[in-house]
Amino acid sequence: MRVYTSNAEISAFIAAESHTTFSLGFVPTMGALHAGHLSLVKAALAANSLVVVSIFVNPTQFDNPSDLEQYPRTLTEDLKLLETLSKTRIIVFAPTVAEVYGAETTATTFDFGTLESQMEGKYRAGHFDGVGTIVKWLFEVVKPHTAYFGEKDFQQLQIIKKMVEITQLAVTIVGCPIERESNGLAMSSRNSRLTIKELEASALIYNTLLSVKDKFNSEASQDISKWVQTQFSNHPLFELEYFQISESETLIPIQQKNLTKSYRAFIAVFARDVRLIDNIALN
Ligand code: PAJ
Repeated sequence: MRVYTSNAEISAFIAAESHTTFSLGFVPTMGALHAGHLSLVKAALAANSLVVVSIFVNPTQFDNPSDLEQYPRTLTEDLKLLETLSKTRIIVFAPTVAEVYGAETTATTFDFGTLESQMEGKYRAGHFDGVGTIVKWLFEVVKPHTAYFGEKDFQQLQIIKKMVEITQLAVTIVGCPIERESNGLAMSSRNSRLTIKELEASALIYNTLLSVKDKFNSEASQDISKWVQTQFSNHPLFELEYFQISESETLIPIQQKNLTKSYRAFIAVFARDVRLIDNIALN
């Protein structure tokens, strides 16, 4: 499998490949790959002749230095997993921080409007400027026709679509469904930091979202939010950071239910210092 760490080298390789008729798919990741990431790579392989997977733990999107430090880094295992999908049609791009940012590891500021003022944007200061900065940089280096993002990070998916609109980059963004553990926990690189007890109890998160979906037709959203709070109040293992029902396109919190619009429920929960997020389509 080809693995590039240098921007100039991968650009030269892609430029050479693009002389033949081909379509290039791209899956940006921070590594510690799991079945959720692999589902994106499979979707990209099914629709493109060549797929670039980037593996880069992006410092500017972490608001918490200890989260950045403890983020799992497993490049050797990641490459083995990717090889099970294709040895010839996947190219890995794993640049260093210096290769991406040069001397100054700072993010550009974007205006993502209503998309950034709540949830991950509200609770993780600067997070989406960091995401926008790295994904824009990667799009400019890789120049993909299509890029694949998980609905696991639904707010991020909407932010990326907005970033492409703002920057007018010629790339199509495709959203892919959430892959889950057998107990319903959304797969995440951070799950490897959970204890067995926390993993077992984590079924509560998805089960809560499923009940919210059930309640959505018949109950007021304020009552649903209160019910979610009670599910987590005084829980011995989990602390609720936020629960929110939002309109899917704008992410503006629901006021009056309007069933011509589509809504999603979003949740963020801490297990000690491990932060878990999930979401579900409600209608
Ligand atoms: P990371 O958390 O590694 O996720 C990479 C991609 O995999 C994202 O599009 C994410 O939504 C998707 N993904 C993660 N878990 C998933 C799951 N359980 N089911 C389906 N898709 C899943 O998201 C990032 O990295 C970074 O912010 C990045 C976009 C790479 C920018 O640094």
